[in-house]
Amino acid sequence: PAQALIFDLDGVLTDTAHTHYQAWKRLADEIGVPFDETVNLRLKGVDREASLAIILERATREYGAEERHTLAERKNGYYRAAIEQVGPQDLFPGVLALLDAARARGLKLGLASASKNAPALLRRLGIADRFDYVADAGAIARAKPNPEIFLSVARALGVAPQTCIGIEDAAAGIAAIRAAGMPAVGIGAPADLPGADAWLPAIAAFDLNAFVSR
Ligand code: G6P
Ligand code: MG
Repeated sequence: PAQALIFDLDGVLTDTAHTHYQAWKRLADEIGVPFDETVNLRLKGVDREASLAIILERATREYGAEERHTLAERKNGYYRAAIEQVGPQDLFPGVLALLDAARARGLKLGLASASKNAPALLRRLGIADRFDYVADAGAIARAKPNPEIFLSVARALGVAPQTCIGIEDAAAGIAAIRAAGMPAVGIGAPADLPGADAWLPAIAAFDLNAFVSR
């Protein structure tokens, strides 16, 4: 039986996948590099430096390491300014009810976000103390689709990976969950999230009874 739920954050519990997109879009526009929602699908779940590298694939010149660092910092400034406005009202519908219901059933709750801003965002959303363990994005050496972040959360929760359910809105995240040996629930369209075991249009549709047998 399932013993834990391990959630991604951006795009699963709140709409910050879009906030990340807007911050990258502003940066891309400023440096004159074409960037749109289609390219953005490849950025979901991908860490900051790798995201910038994907955007710069369409640049007409090379960017050195120092310049890339400056650009990534600039995007992060835009993102952090945007999430200053975030509050509990920005949780996707159904999140609190799901966290409560899962806890009532004795499930452990973990968070596996690649974002270094995840702890601050969780505090703003008012759900920082609802998780038994939040992955330290800065301590993860191998980014999604590598399973490291999901395995680190399972280990910290003290449960076997096969008894966890991973929940993700990113293709790289679904691949990471599957590589960790966990069932994967995709938030989004099946065509965008190959390999998931189930797909839901939004977290509000997550039915614990369907995924967790008593
Ligand atoms: C998550 C998001 C990505 C973001 C990454 C790094 O994985 O899905 O869009 O680029 O975190 O976020 P950070 O806040 O550390 O720049
Ligand atoms: Mg995500």
